[in-house]
Amino acid sequence: MTKKIRVSIVGATGYTGAELLRLVLGHPDLELAAIVGQSKAGQRVSDVLPSFAGILDGEVEAFDAASVAERSDAAFCALPHGASAPIVEELCDRGLKVFDLSADFRLRDPAVFEAWYKAKPSGRFGKAVYGLVELYREALRTADLVAVPGCYPTSAILAIAPLLRSGLVEADGIVVDSKSGVSGAGRSPLPSTHFPETAEGIRAYKVASHRHTPEIEQELSVAAGREVKLVFTPHLVPYTRGILSTSYMVAKPGVTAAECTEAARALYQGSPSVVVRDPGVAPDTLWVRGSNRVQIAYAHDPRTGRIIALSAIDNLVKGASGQAVQCLNVRFGLDEGAGLRGAPQWP
Ligand SMILES: NC(=O)c1ccc[n+]([C@@H]2O[C@H](COP(=O)([O-])OP(=O)(O)OC[C@H]3O[C@@H](n4cnc5c(N)ncnc54)[C@H](OP(=O)(O)O)[C@@H]3O)[C@@H](O)[C@H]2O)c1
Repeated sequence: MTKKIRVSIVGATGYTGAELLRLVLGHPDLELAAIVGQSKAGQRVSDVLPSFAGILDGEVEAFDAASVAERSDAAFCALPHGASAPIVEELCDRGLKVFDLSADFRLRDPAVFEAWYKAKPSGRFGKAVYGLVELYREALRTADLVAVPGCYPTSAILAIAPLLRSGLVEADGIVVDSKSGVSGAGRSPLPSTHFPETAEGIRAYKVASHRHTPEIEQELSVAAGREVKLVFTPHLVPYTRGILSTSYMVAKPGVTAAECTEAARALYQGSPSVVVRDPGVAPDTLWVRGSNRVQIAYAHDPRTGRIIALSAIDNLVKGASGQAVQCLNVRFGLDEGAGLRGAPQWP
């Protein structure tokens, strides 16, 4: 029997951390080493995360780099940005392969990072591989530090990149309109995510200022081979999980939805997480819920000459923890879909 890969989860008591726990426990090649929290350190796992009662005994640990490193081959860091970088640096220094779910290492231009995050980049800034497996699979095979993409960027980039790479749409004038479930905001209660203030309404937030904008632009600039600037408007929608992104692009003359579909299918051939539906289908977040899958579909509006890309993911799985496990699978030479083959929970 081959030896299992020992993984620790730092930030295991939050939403993406809990999702990582669930995925690691169901993964045939991984062994859970440490469950690390901050304010919940010292509490029983089953008290902090009641869904794991009867599954996980023991307590949430406080972070101790030496102790985590001694027991682990790899670590997932599921921490707020800013808090993540120093912990990531310590674990990398100790030789662990690190999969960081925060935004601390996703951008490549330090000036862009400082402008959007109002913070100085950390030592390994610019050294991480961007963990969108479908576009960076080869680079991930040897990565020591992986910057797992943001949830909105995952949904938008996967849908738009094939069209830019194939020259089917203009790089100017792209508009990304996204709707996210409330778990995207994390576990800490906030007035803006309080049930009575979210349950029956829908609103845009961080209009023209959301921090995922430069991340989407960075990766679509790579796809287009030139600088891309776009409009990105996120919305908070009263469901727990899921992101639906509707992206509008100017079609090059004569381009059809069928050609866009073909280009995406060609790019994602052999990618187990991506399903490109036929034109005419409008993906639903319920069709990917609880799974590491993205469903993408394209439409063409002949009146306006626009291509409309529709993409649905589960923000906690393909948008975060599932994608992190997918990156680990590639990094450690495992089957890319190991532990991630579960069908969506539907209805
Ligand atoms: N939620 C999503 O859909 C999503 C998707 C993609 C990426 N992300 C990113 O993933 C990261 C985690 O998000 P989340 O939604 O899981 O957040 P969360 O539910 O708020 O959980 C945060 C975790 O970080 C720990 N923590 C908080 N402050 C800390 C500090 N100063 N030092 C060390 N640990 C600290 C918490 O521990 P205690 O509970 O013990 O205090 C908790 O385990 C964030 O960077 C987020 O942007 C989230």
